[in-house]
Amino acid sequence: AGKLYHEQYRPQIHFSPKSGWMNDPNGMVYYKGVYHLFYQHYPDGIVWGPMHWGHATSKDMIHWKEQKIALYPDKLGYIFSGSAVIDVNNTSGFGKNGKVPMVAIFTHHDPVGEKAGKDNFQNQSIAYSLDEGKTWTKYAGNPVLKNPGIKDFRDPKVYWYEPQHKWIMTLATKDRITFYSSPNLKTWKKESEFGEHLGAHGGVWECPDLFPMTLKGKQHWVLIVNINPGGPNGGSATQYFIGDFNGKTFTPMNENVKWADFGPDEYAGITWSNTGNRRIFLGWMSNWEYANQVPASTWRSTMTIPRELGLKEVNGEVYLTSTPAKELASIAIKSINVPTAILANGRDVASFIKMPSYYRLKLSAAKEDLFINLFNDAGESLVIGYNKKSDRYFIERDKSGKTDFNKNFSKLAYVPRFSGQETLDVDIVVDGTSVEMFADGGLSNLTSIFFAAKPYNHISIQTAKGSVVNKVSITPLKSIW
Ligand code: FRU
Repeated sequence: AGKLYHEQYRPQIHFSPKSGWMNDPNGMVYYKGVYHLFYQHYPDGIVWGPMHWGHATSKDMIHWKEQKIALYPDKLGYIFSGSAVIDVNNTSGFGKNGKVPMVAIFTHHDPVGEKAGKDNFQNQSIAYSLDEGKTWTKYAGNPVLKNPGIKDFRDPKVYWYEPQHKWIMTLATKDRITFYSSPNLKTWKKESEFGEHLGAHGGVWECPDLFPMTLKGKQHWVLIVNINPGGPNGGSATQYFIGDFNGKTFTPMNENVKWADFGPDEYAGITWSNTGNRRIFLGWMSNWEYANQVPASTWRSTMTIPRELGLKEVNGEVYLTSTPAKELASIAIKSINVPTAILANGRDVASFIKMPSYYRLKLSAAKEDLFINLFNDAGESLVIGYNKKSDRYFIERDKSGKTDFNKNFSKLAYVPRFSGQETLDVDIVVDGTSVEMFADGGLSNLTSIFFAAKPYNHISIQTAKGSVVNKVSITPLKSIW
């Protein structure tokens, strides 16, 4: 019940589909001032089903307009995850009358072949649009990259590798990544494999991404590899590697396992194409452990807020950082600085200031036990905190609202600290159904969904005796709907 976009459990500052099921973000590409977000979508139900590519557009990645479905399943199968590029040089030949083609590269998943026990039911295909993503034509020569006999062979992310004037496809192939190259998006040649014995392998590798980033004048290549299950807090999560890529092979700096977000509810996250020097990441805010079971009415699931990626070196180790994209400011109302006197003894901040329902909270605090309690008038609460003994941040959501749909949902989620700094630095984005924590400048991240009867418009902060919390600011965020 409730008006569209104002139903119970409807996020107010994140994208969710009008109706039906959604999972991974797909085909994210920026073109002519518009951010395109396609996504795994089953319009006829609220559980995973025959996959389509839904489509939404935005000028700021915050306010979204849902568009017509872009790609429908066909005789080659369901339309699984993939990417989109702007083929400015018309290498594909799809461009006509000077129109630049937007080309989608995706996995065709053949459910009939899968059922028949075949092992080549996932193949890569392409489609193009000459009207900025409104209408799409699938290529008559699909599939363009045939399965060599690997069951899990999917989620192509394509990138223009300028030094060698060729497209690079980063493909998830069961327990590793396989790189392919192409002059025209239609014929693909295998370049190399990566990761069979590296990284986390608690589940199948999915939804990869590969892109360069610069740190102090030096170029590094970031390889994102989503994995399901095997995430650090159970179920699905986003790992990454940092290294070098020469157009053929990816060489990691070292063998350390790293995670862009420790989860539990950021998955299948990858970045936008065609955003110049910016690298903007978006993920699906759920976990395959319970994605099909979370409370839902007419739609299911949400995307994260867009996140700006960066690189940071700590003790000789290079890490990827994620922080809310600056566009979040488009829904920000004037920040409220919370006087530290109010925070003493864990008093309810809402009894001193007018607390918003959706907001961004930033604080810094001494490296001592910390509890940030978010709660509502329905007696539900969620705790974000820091445990000094284990040197980890955590999110506790066992009393956050509805949790009984899956036994793993109530588990405590942790993320270690990496910054090495003395001060805790916490940045949290709170919606009616999620919290996204970016700690220590985006080095230690946790994303968690919840199903509370009402928004958490109360906060109290407790610290170990005598320790200091300072610089608490709360920025109210306006609903995007
Ligand atoms: C990841 C994933 C992808 C696949 C898609 C199917 O969440 O399993 O590997 O392409 O979802 O919907």
